[in-house]
Amino acid sequence: MTKVVAVIEGDDAAPEAMTPSVALLQDLNLDVEWTYPPVGNAGIHGSTFPDTARDMIDAADATYFGSTSGSASRALMYLRWGKKTYANVRPARYFPNANTPLRNPDGIDLVIVRENLEDIYLGCEGDLSALPDELFSRHARVPVNTLGDGRYAVKGITRQGTEQVVRFAFDLARTRSERLDRPGKLTCTSKYNILPQTDGYFREVATDIAPDYPDVQFETLIADDFLCRLTMNPTQFDVVVMPNLYGDLFSDGAAGLVGGLGLAPSGCYGTDYAYFESAHGTAPDIAGLNIINPTATLLSGAMMLEYLGYTDEGATLSQAIANVYREGVVLTPDQGGTASTSEFVQAVGDKLL
Ligand code: IPM
Ligand code: MG
Repeated sequence: MTKVVAVIEGDDAAPEAMTPSVALLQDLNLDVEWTYPPVGNAGIHGSTFPDTARDMIDAADATYFGSTSGSASRALMYLRWGKKTYANVRPARYFPNANTPLRNPDGIDLVIVRENLEDIYLGCEGDLSALPDELFSRHARVPVNTLGDGRYAVKGITRQGTEQVVRFAFDLARTRSERLDRPGKLTCTSKYNILPQTDGYFREVATDIAPDYPDVQFETLIADDFLCRLTMNPTQFDVVVMPNLYGDLFSDGAAGLVGGLGLAPSGCYGTDYAYFESAHGTAPDIAGLNIINPTATLLSGAMMLEYLGYTDEGATLSQAIANVYREGVVLTPDQGGTASTSEFVQAVGDKLL
């Protein structure tokens, strides 16, 4: 059956990565129909997210999303919270010749699974004075309610939200173990020592689920300890699941270890929808120069192919990208090369012929 992909090209330099990446995917001649919701600058009647755009996203099987600096933010909010894409999957894999700061980067191949809807991302912030004094007299380590002006943010972690993302992460660890023919491992990290009610709950729910996956090795680490280990010895990690904000921070950190955000893809999965975007921003400083690294966008495209049922095609595309790095000839400036965005995509396309 024909699959439908909605394409949102994004802002600043993002379309320069998206346009040739979409063209490359189209050249694979798969049974995919490509639609272009009128989002952001493409929106009509002045709305950056008109109803027609939402309907086109709904009618698609997946959305391929270019980074936004604002014009497509409402669409992005809809793709996350409207479509309930609860698992934000962010692989960090080292390709030889990528611009890593590490001396021994060989074999880094980990996936951060970031809970994508809850935690401190609820958007509930306000004045401290609006909260009951009793909350502070009973729980606060510092009586911030008595210290004058101040603000709060709500961090909410639910059993249901945690359970679904942890099960997703266990399933992913299992799939990777089958594919890579080695035992699977899942690390759960949060700041459970200092936040027992929220991050401790996240850990508790994950630990409760672990016996359902006896074939996957399971460990829990406190977030700061995890970050130190990730930096010093990243090859020890396979799949790592964590609450939203840590996932936002640590996925950028993991990307830095393997060559930067130019190489960082993502896929956000719900029960019946997914969208795929590079984890980097819109790189306004290099907009118009045709030098943005399209690797993150292409790798996100490979994840999307797999989601749409084109598993082999997705794997072949990832391998083609890895091969371009291995040859080390056609690399973009962020990776120490002189190739343009289009030349890099062309080099990947040539490998697929
Ligand atoms: C990301 C980004 C977003 C986030 C911003 C743009 C809202 O940093 O996708 O990692 O914080 O989730
Ligand atoms: Mg981020």
